[in-house]
Amino acid sequence: MISLDARLKCIYDAVGYCDCIADIGSDHARLLIALMQSKRIKRAIACDINEGPLERSRKNAAAHNITEIEFYLSDGFDSILHCSFDKASICGMGGILISEIIRRGGEKAHCGLILQPMTAHSELRAFLWNNGYSISCESFAVESGKPYVVISAHYSGIKESYRYSDLYLGKIRPETPEFKAYCKKVSAQARMRLKGAMLTGGMTKNLSELIEQCRYYTDIII
Ligand SMILES: C[S@@+](CC[C@H](N)C(=O)[O-])C[C@H]1O[C@@H](n2cnc3c(N)ncnc32)[C@H](O)[C@@H]1O
Repeated sequence: MISLDARLKCIYDAVGYCDCIADIGSDHARLLIALMQSKRIKRAIACDINEGPLERSRKNAAAHNITEIEFYLSDGFDSILHCSFDKASICGMGGILISEIIRRGGEKAHCGLILQPMTAHSELRAFLWNNGYSISCESFAVESGKPYVVISAHYSGIKESYRYSDLYLGKIRPETPEFKAYCKKVSAQARMRLKGAMLTGGMTKNLSELIEQCRYYTDIII
């Protein structure tokens, strides 16, 4: 099977099994190739906004004798509105861009979503909960010393409430070493913001509580 680093393996595990997945921003298509090779999916749609990465996907699929992937030059879901698929992955991009792709996708994005934001995790969680998406799972990976989150979400149509700390740590918190690494990063960023807030007389209560929660998880997880 094609090799996957820890981040891509975490995304691969989150996809699980389905008939067809659309991978928005597929770039190298390693995720789709691995899913096809292990027969976790029957077919796939690879989309990218840029021709270069899409060509890389085509070449990689051909090199692995994978013929069940359709390729589309597409900004988000734009060029695949006529296609049917039961899951969509949007990974390796900023959280704001992922939110925008989902928002513009409309009903096409009302499928199982596997999201891997590189930045703006809290903004992505807020977007999902404010716009009727439910987060069913969060899983974490560490690659080259850096923690990553993979968010599994689906459209429920119901707006969800959340606490400040949920935006930064999620509501589903696995007690794994990878989540511990994630907490350490969140805590370091919160400490920086707390310093700034203390200097400018800004709000510190939420930040102090977030840091306290990070400490709890880093203490209890071995
Ligand atoms: C850093 S790569 C991530 C590749 C892969 N998904 C991963 O996680 O390893 C991001 C890819 O998303 C593509 N991309 C950026 N914005 C996009 C958009 N609006 N619609 C589709 N693809 C997009 C880029 O061209 C690039 O190939």
